[in-house]
This record gives sequence, structure tokens and C-alpha cells, in this order.
Amino acid sequence: MSLAGIHNQQSAPISASDLVFDGDLTIEDTKTVLDCAARIRNSPDDYRQSLSGRVLVLLFEKPSLRTRVTFEVAMQSLGGASLFMDLRGEQIGQREPIADVARNLDRWVHAIAARVFRHSTVEQLATWARIPVINALSDRVHPCQALADMLTVQGVFGKLDQVRLAYIGDGNNVAHSLLITGAKLGMHISVATPEGYEPDAEIVRIAASFAAQSGGSVTVSNDPRAAAQGAHVLYTDVWTSMGAEHEAASRRQLFAPYQVNEELFSLARPDAVFLHCLPAHRGEEVTEAVIESPRSVVFDQAENRLHAQKALLWLLLAR
Ligand code: CP
Ligand code: NVA
Repeated sequence: MSLAGIHNQQSAPISASDLVFDGDLTIEDTKTVLDCAARIRNSPDDYRQSLSGRVLVLLFEKPSLRTRVTFEVAMQSLGGASLFMDLRGEQIGQREPIADVARNLDRWVHAIAARVFRHSTVEQLATWARIPVINALSDRVHPCQALADMLTVQGVFGKLDQVRLAYIGDGNNVAHSLLITGAKLGMHISVATPEGYEPDAEIVRIAASFAAQSGGSVTVSNDPRAAAQGAHVLYTDVWTSMGAEHEAASRRQLFAPYQVNEELFSLARPDAVFLHCLPAHRGEEVTEAVIESPRSVVFDQAENRLHAQKALLWLLLAR
């Protein structure tokens, strides 16, 4: 099918031109990405050459398995190409200003995906580049992960509206994106963290304002059992994110009561599922028994990174 044909038949374009922060996608945009992801997954042949001649550059200051591979495979499956720049040990903006990096890249490629330490780095890339910029994880948010997470939950329960998700652990980038993206889609998101590791107050405020529009809700506490009670989804992430390794030992002690184990899982609904963005540290934030149980959907979730990002790339680039 021609690109115009696909557009006419299937998709309203999204209003966003970048995905730096989850809030860049409106509620409608977010639903469009999820719908488009399902269509691309079901009819990959319709999209096989849809990004022909388009190039995505990946600028990664941190390690990655899932994000790198899914972006590169997504571009290849849509007929485009990708170029990976391993910037571990060399932060963007160190050799030359970020504004110059952005204004060089937009002369050669069609989109940038950046995994960065400082969120401001990806913001600056988006300010200066005239091409779409996608946040492939920053210290503040991980928006591509949340899109795949929504696709996964929708796949299990057939809906997102009024689904209860409990996030147990560190109030980090992954928690921030889940709060905002889940709240946009009418989910009830309950986050339980140790004291001092709560999600950022501004993120909670943004999520609450989306929840007020969607009929969802946002709760933050230090009580993992209360959060898990009656949940459809239990979600956790590593206790120590990339860049905070020096805090790992102290965090292991503080976070121990927040482990997702069979006892905590038993408080959730009988049909509850377990999600984790991966990589997982078995014996820390989750036990082997939970992550390897039939209720764990972590590898479907990883697969959905590919479908969600194909949709995002297609919506941002195939215009
Ligand atoms: N979940 C996730 O972003 O994985 P990677 O760090 O391997 O990309
Ligand atoms: N919170 C984790 C997510 C890894 C995908 C980190 O930032 O390291």
C-alpha cells in the first residue's frame, strides 16, 4: 500500500514532532501511537518500505540492549537505516556544543534517538535540531519504555482504562514515564517507594492533571503492600539506575522491603501480571520465582519495544 494510502486509511498524524518527555504526546497522540503499533504488528508488509531512504542516528551515552536493538531493527523493517554512535565515556556536548551537534546531524539524517545522563541534553538536541528527536532514556524519563508497557498491559487485559498498576521500588525515570503515560490513558497508577526516593513532585503533578482528564488516578506512598493490593499489574525496575552505581550498596538495604516477591504478588489480583523494563537483578528488586512465573510478561514487554517504536518512527517520519 502506498504511504498516502496508509495515512488515509489508518492514521491521524500525531501533533508531536519530538518525543523528549512523555507530555510531548497528547492523550490522542498516545492512543494513536498504540493503535498504529498494533496495526504495524498485525500487517508488517504494509509498512515494509514506508521509511525508505530515512536514516535514524542513535547517540548513546549509556549501555543498552533493548532500546538500541529495537530502534535499529525498527528502522530496517520499515525500509530505513540506522547509525549507532557509542558515546559511552564521551558525553554529548563535551567535544562541541550540543547546538552544533544537532545542527550538523539535521543536515545528514532524518531523526535522532538519544540516551543521555542529563535530561537537558536531549531537550537541547530537540531545541536545535530541525528533525524529530526521541528520548531513548534520560535521568528524568523513559518515554519509549512506557509506550511499550502500555501496549503490553493492553494486550493482557484488552484495555488500559481503569486498570490498576502498582509500581514498587525507585521513583526513577521509568516510574516517571509510567505515571504520566498511564495517567493519560485512564489507568490507576500507585507508586510505592522508600522514603526519600519518591517520584519527582512536578512529574506527579503533571500525571495527576492527565488523570483528572482521563478518569485515572495517581497515588504515591511508602507502602508496597497497600500499592500491590488488588493491582492488575505489579511493575518494578532496578534499585540503582545507570549512573548511580556508587549508591548501590546503601540502596540494597533501604529497598529490601520493596522487593517484588511471591508474598507481595499474592496481594494483587489473581490474574495480575508482572512487568519489568529489564535488565532485572534477580534477588534484588524481584525474585527469580516471580520473574520466571507464568504471570511474568517481561519478554512480551521487551518485544513490544519494537512495535511501539516502529509506530513512533513511522508517525514522526513518514509524512
Ligand atoms: N529497558 C531498556 O531500556 O533496556 P536497555 O537499557 O537494554 O535499552
Ligand atoms: N532506571 C533504569 C532503567 C534501565 C532501562 C536506568 O536508568 O538505569
